[in-house]
Amino acid sequence: METRILGNSRSAMELAKAYIEAGEAVAFHTETVYGLGANAFSDEAVLKIYALKGRPADNPLIVHVHRDYDISRLTDGEPAYAAALRRAFLPGPLTMVYPSSGKVSRYVSCGLQTLAVRVPSSPVAQAFLKAVNLPVAAPSANLSKHVSPVTAQHVLDDFGGKIPLILDGGACTGGIESTVLDCTGEVPAILREGLVTREQIARIAGDCRVYVPAEGEKPKSPGMAYKHYSPRCKTACCRSAEEALRLYENEETGGGKPMILCESALLPRFSGREVLDLGETDAEMARRLYTLLRQGEKRATLLVGVMPSGRGGAMAGVLNRFTRAFGGDHET
Ligand code: TXA
Ligand code: MG
Repeated sequence: METRILGNSRSAMELAKAYIEAGEAVAFHTETVYGLGANAFSDEAVLKIYALKGRPADNPLIVHVHRDYDISRLTDGEPAYAAALRRAFLPGPLTMVYPSSGKVSRYVSCGLQTLAVRVPSSPVAQAFLKAVNLPVAAPSANLSKHVSPVTAQHVLDDFGGKIPLILDGGACTGGIESTVLDCTGEVPAILREGLVTREQIARIAGDCRVYVPAEGEKPKSPGMAYKHYSPRCKTACCRSAEEALRLYENEETGGGKPMILCESALLPRFSGREVLDLGETDAEMARRLYTLLRQGEKRATLLVGVMPSGRGGAMAGVLNRFTRAFGGDHET
């Protein structure tokens, strides 16, 4: 199959609509990462997404709708705080988990009684969702466990020849996935950290928890149980420049090709070494992380990540993706 890459035009959106109605999967730009979408009402189309990605059958999908879509068609009630959050943050990088009315394919939520709903702000995503005027089930458009895609080329690298169309909106400005927020309880609870922060949510909702699964408990957001966002080379995670240099030199001595990924402030510590510059601010680090992981896996045999030092803002999301990509905390 030929994979076409088209921008935001009427003819592209008409073609996308025809593919979605025919049960095909179409990749599309969002402000966070690219999504791989299919008709959420169709069992067959939704199952195609799992098959294409090699995604575990117990990891539910987010349904995407356009800004004028009436979410109450898909959900069963909404607490007052959720209505306020919707007005404050949507369209944007916040996914809200509601009690489901059971209207979409049962494969979307994998047997959970809830439905995750997202209204992306990207103009390409909005044009696409408006054109199809259906809820579109869409995970990130990467092979399962691989790094999420933030350019059309990244999608092509994982799905070239396997899907008919990529709706190209350029590089994603957000760069990490949406915040997933459980809105089924008395107080909202973050299931996956992202670009909308706990502080921002608490300001509107009065309070916001961060859900941490108890030891041995199946997480409420099943995706968080899996190894994720992994570059296809060896990785190591460390907390200091000294540790990174030691790992770097070891790899070089063994005939390998190491690279270091770190925040800009540490660059002077690694002069003469192969380094990927994550940037300075939380927004910059979020925007660059996945592109650098994909660059690194192509060039290095070992990618050494030095934990960024910043906190606050979107850093919770950045650090979550960072540790999951580099294989957890490696204390020095
Ligand atoms: O930014 C994003 O959210 C991107 C773009 C494409 O919209 N999508 C994305 O989808 O990251 P995916 O499938 O890669 O991650 C969805 C996450 C998973 O951790 C999944 O377990 C969780 O959302 N999820 C989906 N439905 C859920 C539900 N009903 N309850 C709890 N967690 C849910
Ligand atoms: Mg994903």
